[in-house]
Amino acid sequence: METVWTRKDLLSLYDLSADEIIFLLDTAEEFKKVSERNVKKVPALRGKTVVNFFVEPSTRTRVSFELAEQRLSADIINVQASTSSLKKGETLLDTIKNLEALQVDLFVMRHASPGAQYFIAENTKCGVVNAGDGAHSHPTQALLDLFTIREKKGHIDGLKVTILGDILHSRVARSNIWGLLKLGAEVTVAGPPTLVPREFESIGVKVCHNLKDAVRDADVVNVLRIQHERLNASFFPSDSEYASFYGIKPGILDYMKPDTIIMHPGPINRDVEISSAVADGSRSVILEQVTNGLAVRMAVLFLVAGCVKK
Ligand code: CP
Repeated sequence: METVWTRKDLLSLYDLSADEIIFLLDTAEEFKKVSERNVKKVPALRGKTVVNFFVEPSTRTRVSFELAEQRLSADIINVQASTSSLKKGETLLDTIKNLEALQVDLFVMRHASPGAQYFIAENTKCGVVNAGDGAHSHPTQALLDLFTIREKKGHIDGLKVTILGDILHSRVARSNIWGLLKLGAEVTVAGPPTLVPREFESIGVKVCHNLKDAVRDADVVNVLRIQHERLNASFFPSDSEYASFYGIKPGILDYMKPDTIIMHPGPINRDVEISSAVADGSRSVILEQVTNGLAVRMAVLFLVAGCVKK
């Protein structure tokens, strides 16, 4: 495989070409084979130090990055924002500069402020991987979603993908939209008008406010979490009201094609945006998404580390 990757940072799928995204997915496919071997560890990042710097909570992303780093034989530092000198007023940039002075190589960062990782990437020679910045971007989540769709459907070009739920506050939605459009999918965003405003049409997606219409032709339905932590106003009357109009429950499966797959990035609000019967049912690929996240993050770390020049 000839490399088309030249970036020391992965900040957003918006910045990438279709060829770069496909190259990342193809590389992840190779790392998935490594994860299925008896010996799952490779020496690709031996001698490199990766700092996991999560200023927002995470389970899946943080743990799978750390496991990916272990599988690549990197040295790993986990910085907890709550016990770091950020709490004493040190700036984010000063924190990064001090860690850089310890000759680390890569930062994997989650931050509540959109663009924080762009700012850091411009101000460090280390590589920066965005593990989620506010409501803006979550590129490795979108890559693992694309990987899972391609694995299940054999291709992405021409597929109809519905992203359902809190689109307004979702970095996962934005990242999926950018990636899916670049790879030739048709994207519909669906949910209540307060969380899915018509303005989204300007980026090339369809907007739908009726659940049955939104899922009828879909090959993939990606259900998003209601992000209570980002809802600073009343966007719908109650969780039960949301569940009754937009929740994915067994009855709604009858309106879908028989081979439609159901995705969710996690964490799930069970019986709000998706019922347990569907989340744990035969059409759900939710835990396969998590498994694929490891291969995707190994690929991302491997490729960006190869472009860090210090
Ligand atoms: N999907 C996702 O980003 O999950 P975490 O917040 O647990 O990392």
